[in-house]
Amino acid sequence: MLTNSLVELDRQHLVHPVSSFRGHEARGVRVLRSAKGATVTDAEGRELIDGFAGLWCVNAGYGHESIVEAAADQMRKLPYATGYFDLGAEAPIRLAAELAERSPGDLNHIYFSLGGSDAVDSTIRFIRYYWHAKGQPQRDQFISVEQGYHGSTSMGAGLTALPGFHEGFGIPYQWQHKISSHYVYRNPAQSAQEIIDASVAELRAKVAEIGEDKVAAFYVEPIQGSGGVLVPPMGWMKAMRDVCAELEILFVADEVITAFGRTGPLFACEDEGIVPDLMTTAKGLTSGYVPMGAVFMRDHVYETIADGAGAKAVGHGFTYSAHPVSAAVALEVLYLYENGLLENGRKAGARLMAGLESLRDHPLVGDVRGRGMLAAVELVTDKDKKTPLPASVQPATRLFDRAWEQGLIVRSFPQGIFGYAPPLCCTDAEIDAIVERTRKVLDLTLEDPEIRAVLR
Ligand SMILES: Cc1ncc(COP(=O)(O)O)c(C=O)c1O
Repeated sequence: MLTNSLVELDRQHLVHPVSSFRGHEARGVRVLRSAKGATVTDAEGRELIDGFAGLWCVNAGYGHESIVEAAADQMRKLPYATGYFDLGAEAPIRLAAELAERSPGDLNHIYFSLGGSDAVDSTIRFIRYYWHAKGQPQRDQFISVEQGYHGSTSMGAGLTALPGFHEGFGIPYQWQHKISSHYVYRNPAQSAQEIIDASVAELRAKVAEIGEDKVAAFYVEPIQGSGGVLVPPMGWMKAMRDVCAELEILFVADEVITAFGRTGPLFACEDEGIVPDLMTTAKGLTSGYVPMGAVFMRDHVYETIADGAGAKAVGHGFTYSAHPVSAAVALEVLYLYENGLLENGRKAGARLMAGLESLRDHPLVGDVRGRGMLAAVELVTDKDKKTPLPASVQPATRLFDRAWEQGLIVRSFPQGIFGYAPPLCCTDAEIDAIVERTRKVLDLTLEDPEIRAVLR
């Protein structure tokens, strides 16, 4: 009864993010009630393994009392402190220092946001300010990568390169340019080196086309998440970083998904020994317990902005920047990462990848890819031709629903791709269950008359 009334209230009043409003009204909400570790329980009492850590954010897993205590303590002591007017609070100051100590190179200056989208948006503002401060205000053109996702603000959604975020919104803007994704599985180039060379050549060509003195920055995700978990060949990030350094373009690593153990280390840039000029994080920063994001800036970026502004205020800020409760949570989450969770995540990630690899022989599996606890299985109807599942079978809802029936939550991308980002706390048994349930979903999908009809 209670659930029925919630479903009705939701239908009438709650606008869901990135959803078909009409589709959602028809389907109704699935209400989640509680969670512990890697398991969530819905309002009917059904238990499911959360193979996607909420929205690739609950890296620590659910139900850590110490995180709850950290938030409650901070709320009792000081629930809010503004960072305006030269004020501050202990937790965000300590958090900034701890993160700076651990971040790659001299990414020593941290601006806290409320999540990933406004972190990305903040980088656009800081970068514009930086070039103005350097006396090059004409550097106002931004480049990102097809299939990339950089959030959903008015400006960030134009760096995002997924059509659903553009259509009907009047973006991207003219100053927002794209180069092709590495998308290894569907890349016509044969070898890793060819893919890297092609991306480098395309970036150079794009910069030349726009004008070398007009480009402000280039944005990449170490692994493209929302585009379908697209993993570049090792060396791709480094090559792109090097070109940007050579062309004197700021290189921004959007680590909103990949940071905090998702790929193994604290930051995925460490995988290739890269120091970006700016780096964005969110999600795993607080493990989704409370909202928070962070923009990391290298010394030269911060110093240029600081000198450019002089005694003037740099007019960028939010009421909830550096929120003390979020910071207290992030400090505790960081402690948990470094006291077992990162290590467990690395082991669980290796097991997950090995398990998913074992699905390659399934008739519907075209590709298995990933790094650490971030992975994807791409479904096809013809392995030789790599034919994706047709849109007519509505792969996103069909596969998501089928996984749900098996007690598994995974991301189900519209092209027929399963995305995995389980909490780092997963046990061996939970990882094995994720793989076994995926196999069951694949088997059931193979028996599905509508899928059979399109199989070769
Ligand atoms: C790479 C990347 N950047 C930015 C964002 C936006 O973050 P948020 O949803 O917290 O606004 C996301 C969210 O998934 C992301 O994956």
